[in-house]
Amino acid sequence: MKDKQFTPWYFKPEIAKVYESFYEGKYKEADIQEKNLLKFLLDQIDGVSEILEVGCGTGHFTRWLGSLGYKIVGVDISPVMLGVAKELWDKGKFINARAEFLPFKDKSFDVVLYVACLEYMPDLVKVFKEAERVARRGIVMGLMNRWSLPTIRRIIQVKLGKNPYYYNARFYSLPMIKKELKRALDGKSYEFLDWRCAVFPKIFGIKKLLKFPLGGSFLGFGVKFK
Ligand SMILES: C[S@@+](CC[C@H](N)C(=O)[O-])C[C@H]1O[C@@H](n2cnc3c(N)ncnc32)[C@H](O)[C@@H]1O
Repeated sequence: MKDKQFTPWYFKPEIAKVYESFYEGKYKEADIQEKNLLKFLLDQIDGVSEILEVGCGTGHFTRWLGSLGYKIVGVDISPVMLGVAKELWDKGKFINARAEFLPFKDKSFDVVLYVACLEYMPDLVKVFKEAERVARRGIVMGLMNRWSLPTIRRIIQVKLGKNPYYYNARFYSLPMIKKELKRALDGKSYEFLDWRCAVFPKIFGIKKLLKFPLGGSFLGFGVKFK
């Protein structure tokens, strides 16, 4: 964070209102690939029916998972992002809470899911410990891959004071996120999911999920509990 007055973009109503439009424009193709990757990860965990999506924002992925038949609850720290989520899906269940303190009993959901939000959470060990408390079967995540050009560009822009969307963001590579998970789940019995990257630069014409950690701007990973 650059100054004391800094308000993250997700608390700003004018940004929350237009957030979903990115999925219809600039990120339309990325959205398809990201959903394929999230489904690939969820399918590695047996018996998933109830999902808690933490950092659900405007409910983009919450609605999609609901349409696939999962029982889903969305949680987000931002009332304005959740306001849009409720407008777009009035039957959806959305709760204003923080990833670090989830207002649910132990083992309430099969899986806790995060999409493009862990970047904004300063203490991932705390976040993952809380996920392990409320999840019965595993944790699934999609992240902005640190080892990709869009992320490197964002890191440079922030250093130059140019991209306020990412002032309070931290970007993870696969080894970095593994390390956080290992610390959080120390002493627990789990195994890592088979990871993939998606959304490679258009110039390569790759639309598939690849087990290649460089270049794809979306990294999918997770754990299943034993
Ligand atoms: C880039 S948006 C992603 C929204 C949604 N997952 C998507 O992919 O469209 C990041 C979201 O994380 C939420 N967020 C940030 N810190 C959080 C925290 N500590 N607990 C819960 N949500 C948080 C923000 O409010 C924002 O809605």
